[in-house]
Amino acid sequence: MTTAVNTGGLTLDGVGKRFGRGTAAVTVLDDVAFDVPEGEFVAVVGPSGSGKTTLLNTVAGFVDPDVGQILVNGTPVTGPGPSRCVVFQEYAIFPWLTVRRNIEFGMRLRARRRPAAERRRIADRYLDLMGLTAFADALPKTLSGGMRQRVALARAYAVDPEILLMDEPFAALDAQTRETMQEALLEINQKERRTVLFVTHQVEEAIFLADRVVVMSARPARVQEIVPVPWRGPRHHELKTTPEFIELRRRIEAMLRGGHPTPEGQTA
Ligand SMILES: Nc1ncnc2c1ncn2[C@@H]1O[C@H](COP(=O)(O)OP(=O)(O)O)[C@@H](O)[C@H]1O
Ligand SMILES: [Mg+2]
Repeated sequence: MTTAVNTGGLTLDGVGKRFGRGTAAVTVLDDVAFDVPEGEFVAVVGPSGSGKTTLLNTVAGFVDPDVGQILVNGTPVTGPGPSRCVVFQEYAIFPWLTVRRNIEFGMRLRARRRPAAERRRIADRYLDLMGLTAFADALPKTLSGGMRQRVALARAYAVDPEILLMDEPFAALDAQTRETMQEALLEINQKERRTVLFVTHQVEEAIFLADRVVVMSARPARVQEIVPVPWRGPRHHELKTTPEFIELRRRIEAMLRGGHPTPEGQTA
């Protein structure tokens, strides 16, 4: 089966956002600018409360920036739309629908609606890719947290938006499940390359998943640095324990603390 896959580039251009008015006003995003070229996986890392969700929400179209603009394939974002699909931290799947129905549901809402038989075929494919085939007729309440996030990921890929947005999708999972899910995400994205913007406060997760890591400052969130991740090809968990990985992690963690990179072996 050949399925046309949507991808697209994302541009954030001088995005700023304040909440509240007068003396109570808080600047959350300050002149945030970076690109996510088509097919690239970019992770945004920043401390909790720094504005990552707000940033993602502006791209999703849930929050209007005060200044700047966001472009998807060169077209300005003016609100939520089918070019972007969000995977949230909470399991945003319908408890009354089976796994299969949850995956098919997203496709039914699309502007480019597909015939039922094709939706079924696409659902089969993503059930398989996410290891959910045996659970196709199960209800979400019978599944573990990790399995529910597999459903949310399968649904997002099946919807086939230009840009996938992920807001700490694995943050509520235990450490071991989180690792398994990171590998599952890398695997599906290897087979079905998409443009992904993934936000997390975990540096290790950001480096492990991404082609580039956008390091944000504490609030108001500004781009401190954009760090390329040097590994190409399939990644496995052993990568996290290599000296190169640990050194890169240490460098980014030092940036987040507002410190400076330290020489090998020294703590910041
Ligand atoms: N709708 C809102 N109204 C007022 N303040 C908000 C709103 N949304 C977020 N904030 C504030 O913006 C800051 C950044 O929040 P958020 O984007 O959720 O950060 P993160 O996802 O990095 O933890 C927080 O201080 C939060 O309280
Ligand atoms: Mg958040």
